[in-house]
Amino acid sequence: MQCLSKLLLAAVAMAAVPAAMAAERAYPNVGKPLAQAEIQRFDRMIGPEGKELPVGHGTVKEGAELFVKRCEVCHGKTGRNGIVRRLMVGKPGEPYKGSFYGQEMNGPSYYPYPTITWDYINRAMPASNPGTLTPNEVYALTAYIYYENGIIKENDVMDEKTLLKVQMPNKDGFVPAKPVYPPDPKWPSWY
Ligand code: HEC
Repeated sequence: MQCLSKLLLAAVAMAAVPAAMAAERAYPNVGKPLAQAEIQRFDRMIGPEGKELPVGHGTVKEGAELFVKRCEVCHGKTGRNGIVRRLMVGKPGEPYKGSFYGQEMNGPSYYPYPTITWDYINRAMPASNPGTLTPNEVYALTAYIYYENGIIKENDVMDEKTLLKVQMPNKDGFVPAKPVYPPDPKWPSWY
């Protein structure tokens, strides 16, 4: 009998555990489920083929004007010598080809696909207020940055089709990673 009551006690205790966990998980005043439209605002990755690119267009001139208003504060005039270490403009005609950790690495001329700049700006910039640019503004800023990097011409217009045709200067500079063991000591430990 004593044995049975112990068993019963154990069963009650086990049943109580999920109930207690459920009670703990219910944070009454924290967060709320996201609406479908809100989830879609985060779900906006643009892949290398650009299938997800929205319709829109922008010119180098429009991008230059926007850059002064929304980007110069961190990235400096014309994307050079800003307070942000990441360079926006490298040496036009001489794209950076060193390692990913090089101080001279500058994204837009380094990226292998033309859509990366668009995607990055669209999701992450301006860093102080990301997600606030319209598709046309992102096309214009991309055009401007590619122009400053010597990748497109001054009168080239960027839209969901022309962007895909941009020839990235470092597109063949990426090689599949080969695992090396033991790790090469010249790489940072977190590589
Ligand atoms: C408040 C400061 C701030 C503003 C304003 C800002 N950025 Fe940035 N930007 C950053 C920082 C910080 C990084 C580096 C982020 C990182 O490396 O994780 C960055 C990185 C970038 C990069 C990637 C460079 C690379 O090397 O890969 C691009 C492209 C870029 N910004 C574009 C823009 C554009 C276009 C605007 C204007 C719409 C803008 N940023 C406005 C802070 C800013």
